[in-house]
Amino acid sequence: MKMVMAIIKPHKLDDVREALTAIGVEGLTASEARGYGRQKGHTEIYRGAEYAITFVPKVKIEIVLPDNLVENAVEAIENAARVGKIGDGKIFVYDVNSAVRIRTGERDDEAL
Ligand SMILES: Nc1ncnc2c1ncn2[C@@H]1O[C@H](COP(=O)(O)OP(=O)(O)OP(=O)(O)O)[C@@H](O)[C@H]1O
Ligand SMILES: [Mg+2]
Repeated sequence: MKMVMAIIKPHKLDDVREALTAIGVEGLTASEARGYGRQKGHTEIYRGAEYAITFVPKVKIEIVLPDNLVENAVEAIENAARVGKIGDGKIFVYDVNSAVRIRTGERDDEAL
């Protein structure tokens, strides 16, 4: 299993969720985040306004997946989240050791 963690523009969250659902993803977590990238917050446009602050509003998405879905999921996020402008975000992938569905006690792939 892998964790795919993506930092995206907030207005892309629904597009990304739909793209992930379409490839068979059944669960994910989204959180509000504050991002700092190469522009250091100075030149990004958010809701039509230039953000003259250090941290820019972002959404963080976390999805734990069986290995065979990871490549598709990364591509789905890339395509759905891309505007083609600075601040489109990043995707990180890391290993996950275990998962549990609390209601049933199912483990690992069965728990996703
Ligand atoms: N190395 C990093 N580790 C963790 N989060 C990061 C890292 N780099 C960027 N981020 C997060 O990703 C967000 C979006 O990054 P962003 O797309 O602005 O990247 P960038 O490297 O500045 O590229 P670009 O020039 O396309 O804007 C940042 O606001 C921050 O939340
Ligand atoms: Mg940037």
